[in-house]
Order: sequence, then structure tokens, then C-alpha cells
Amino acid sequence: MGYHASDYMGKPVIAVVNTWSEINSCHTHFKQRVEEVKRGIWQAGGFPVEMPVMTLAEPFQKPTTMLYRNFLAMETEELLKSYPFDGCVLMGGCDKTTPGLLMGALSMNLPAIFLPAGPMLRGNWNGRTLGSGSDTWKYWAELRAGKITEEEWKGIESGIARSPGHCMTMGTASTMTSATEALGLTLPGFSSIPAVDSRHAQFASLTGQRIVEMVWTDLKPSDILTAKSFDNAITTVLSMSGSTNAIVHLVAVARRAGIDLTTARFDELARITPVLGNLRPSGQYLMEDFFYAGGLRALLAELGELIDGTQMTVNGSTLGANIEGAEIFDDDVIRKRGNPLVASDALAVLTGNLAPDGAVIKPAAMEAHLLKHRGPAVVFRDYADMAARIDTEELDVTADSVIVLQHAGPIGAPGMPEWGQLPIPQKLLKQGVRDMLRISDARMSGTSYGACVLHVAPESFVGGPLALVKDGDMIELDVSARRLHLDISVLELAARKAAWMPPKRPFERGFGVMHQLHVTQANKGCDFDFLEEPVRPPAESAPASLQQTTQDAPQDTSQAAKRNEPEIH
Ligand code: FES
Repeated sequence: MGYHASDYMGKPVIAVVNTWSEINSCHTHFKQRVEEVKRGIWQAGGFPVEMPVMTLAEPFQKPTTMLYRNFLAMETEELLKSYPFDGCVLMGGCDKTTPGLLMGALSMNLPAIFLPAGPMLRGNWNGRTLGSGSDTWKYWAELRAGKITEEEWKGIESGIARSPGHCMTMGTASTMTSATEALGLTLPGFSSIPAVDSRHAQFASLTGQRIVEMVWTDLKPSDILTAKSFDNAITTVLSMSGSTNAIVHLVAVARRAGIDLTTARFDELARITPVLGNLRPSGQYLMEDFFYAGGLRALLAELGELIDGTQMTVNGSTLGANIEGAEIFDDDVIRKRGNPLVASDALAVLTGNLAPDGAVIKPAAMEAHLLKHRGPAVVFRDYADMAARIDTEELDVTADSVIVLQHAGPIGAPGMPEWGQLPIPQKLLKQGVRDMLRISDARMSGTSYGACVLHVAPESFVGGPLALVKDGDMIELDVSARRLHLDISVLELAARKAAWMPPKRPFERGFGVMHQLHVTQANKGCDFDFLEEPVRPPAESAPASLQQTTQDAPQDTSQAAKRNEPEIH
């Protein structure tokens, strides 16, 4: 390799876990950023080792990146376990890469710091600003309704993603990188910086420097993450009207940290958290605007007492210290508490006989007249059935109907794809209908919108009540009461359950077999049951020793020493 012993002797060995790949357009710049991270590690007296791991590229991976989130988590954990690393930098951003990397690193519990990919620049087409995903769905509906031409659609395609970086609406990527910063696992302010901004490169280098100091002071995720830091992450997601996917991912991440986070906690915090981030799809602006308006630090500062500022972060300071004095520079993009975009209920967790273990809806991104609705079900038994019939003239559907998609959950789909924004039938689109009640056990992209009930648990594939719905059954939604109800008798429901036959499992070989045997349901985070950590008691605040400087630190605190393993570097 050409290293001299002085390059690595006595130095912390840092894994730079990189999800770069030529197929991941969101991480195009990671080839450059990894060099900047390594520069920082060298500068601080560490020894960097780049470790490529599986990329999860939203636009291309089939059937869904979600099927492989746990694969990335396992790969990360096993790499950190089997090689002689003292700490790690986690390079991710495109949707599932963030939770996948965090889950693996938390299970290993080495000093770890997350490097967010940063959002891409605003999209542009014929002078109009385009937002990732949201405008794809919007103009796709316009194309299907015959309102735009194929030529215009091609122009939209070429202008919507014009730089490196992750989706710049409040999709899952922006949601999870912001949540990770609020958890305390990212340098303060980093998650809001656009991918191509020169300050993104500077922060990459600072991240490399910081991880070396974290190793010397032995600052691990278990010293940082508490139930309160997860409350901070949830409040952040809600205040930005973030993706519903955050529920599945944060529950899974928390359970890797030994914290029993439930979906009910999201609902409790949603009732008291205002939406201050005026960001698409619920609002008007994009992440680039958010950065110029002050970014996440300004938003967190404005949230005031809703954020617990005593929580520790990777830079060795508390979250409160990190956001102190942060200013809002455009109070239309980041609203003040007195002028929220929406007063509360960015997300709502529903229960009822149709979803005994819960379901999720995003009230801030749906038409208000559907918040309380009753209508007859139009049922599709799987995605192929829906694709074949949804746009036919014979489909018996009106704007009051409730579209139901079965077999789109963690096992049945498989992998719980982002199919939850079920298409509105073409004949209704032509009548001007742009939202209607839709229900599935799928997830939905954070860039999507509409009255879509998601994450229905248990899923239909394992015999959840969603599997028992028939055409014409009346379904009731009442968001303010958090209720989702199938209006048939208990006896009828029991009879249908008794007659239900388990379908054939989708996989016969490979990773999919492990997935279908061990994946948990949406309300438990869709992790593998054998990877969850036992629940630990609430962590005390970070010990004073975490404030140690590099100079103060003893030289024998490497993870290998702590594990009583021979020092081989
Ligand atoms: Fe990577 Fe959207 S495609 S974040």
C-alpha cells in the first residue's frame, strides 16, 4: 500500500464508510468528499481507511431500497466489527442510506459521526422552480390527464435534478439528515448545506478532524443518544413536515440504541409541534432556500422549549449550545412560532379495526375536506392488479370512493415500497379530482402528498384486517379522532379472517428469504428481529469526561483496547 509505519503507528484508525456508487446520482460528489474527509483525519493525527459499502439508490433499485436498508445496516456493523477500526465516518444521504448506516454503527457503538450528502440545487424548467419528487408526481398526473405534452415532460425530467445531492424537497433524505443532526450525530448546521456549496467540502474536512478527537475522548453513540434526543429528532421532523418514512426509520434506529420508541410518541409530539419549515410538499420552498434562511440551527432555535438543549452532540457540546444565537434570515421560509405554516398535526397516527397496530397519515399534505371521510372501498389485491385496472373506464369509482391496495407491506410487496400515493383513476383526473382517500400497507415518498393512509399494521400479507376488505365495504377516516374504521360487523370480520389463506411467500433464495423470515412490522421499524438491542434504562446526561480535549486524552482508549483485543495497528 506504500504506507510507512509512521503513517499509522499509534494513530486512531478511522473507517470512512462510503455509499458512493456510479448508480447513485445523489452521492456523485462523495468521490471528492471522501478525500476531504481523509484530509481532515490526517490533519488531526488519524489514519483514514475508505470502506465502500452497498449503495441504495432510490430511482433505480428494485423492488425498493427499503428491502436492502437492513442489508446496509448489517454490512456496516460487520465491517466495523471485523476490521480494526477505532471510529467511523458515515457518508450517506439518499433516503435509506442514512438509517442503514446509523443502525449498523449504533449496534457496533464505536465513535461515529454522520456526513450528510446535502440537498441538490433547486430544479428549474422554463423559468419554473421544480421540487424533487413532488413535481414529478404533479406533472405525471398532468401528463396522464392530457394537460402537458410528452415534450414538456422531457423538459421537466432534464431540469428537475441538475446537481449532485439528495432530493431537495422535504423527502425522506432531507428529513432523515435533519433528524440525524437533531439527534446530535452530525456537526451542527451541516445537514442544511447544499451538496455543491463550498462549505459542504469544508464541513467534510471538519468531520474528518472531529472523528479523531471523538476517538481519543471515546465519545460513542451510546453517550449521545437518549429518549430525549429522539424526541428532539421527532420534533424536528414534525416542525419541517417531514416524511412519514421517518417513523419507520427512527423507530428502527432507536431500537438499535436500546430505546423503545413507539409510533404513539410521534402522535403525542405532533399535537404540540407547529410546522415552521415552509417546505414542499406541504409548503412552498426548497432546501436551498432553507439553508439561505438560516438552516436547521435557526429552526431549532426558534422551536425554543420544544427542543431539549441539554442533549449531547458529536462536537462535544450540547445541542442548546450549538444552536444558541442562530438567526432566521427569511421568516417566510422558516416561520416564527407566532406564524406557523400549520399549527400542529404534521403527522397523525391512526388506529382502529382496520389498523390494530397503527397507520400513518400526513394531514398537512392532504385536502382538508378529506380529514373526515366515509366512502365505499375499491380494492386492488396487489400492485399488478392496480396497474391493470386503475385507469380503465369500467372501474366503478367516484371521488368519494376509498382506494385500497393490499399486499404492499414489508413482507408482501416485498420490502414495503413507496407505492402509498396510489394513483387517482384517470377518469377522475379528467374530472379535475386531485385528491381522494387512499389506504395501503405501503410507505410513501416524503416528496408525495395527498390523503394517503400508510403503514397499515399488521400488513395484509400476514392476515391483517386490510387483507379482509372487499369492494363496497364502507370505510371511515376521522383524523382528529385518530380513527380508521372498517364498517362491517365483528362477526363478518371474524368469518372473513377464518376463510383467509396465507399467500405464497415472495422469496425462495438469497437475502430475501432472511428478510421475509425476520422483518418486523412497520410499527416496530421493519428491522430484523435478531438485530434489535435490549431496551436500556434512560441514559444519564453525558459525563464530564466527554469534554476532554485531544491533549488531555490518554493514549490507550482505542476500541481494540477496550475490547481486550490485540492492537494490530
Ligand atoms: Fe436520492 Fe431522492 S433520489 S434522495
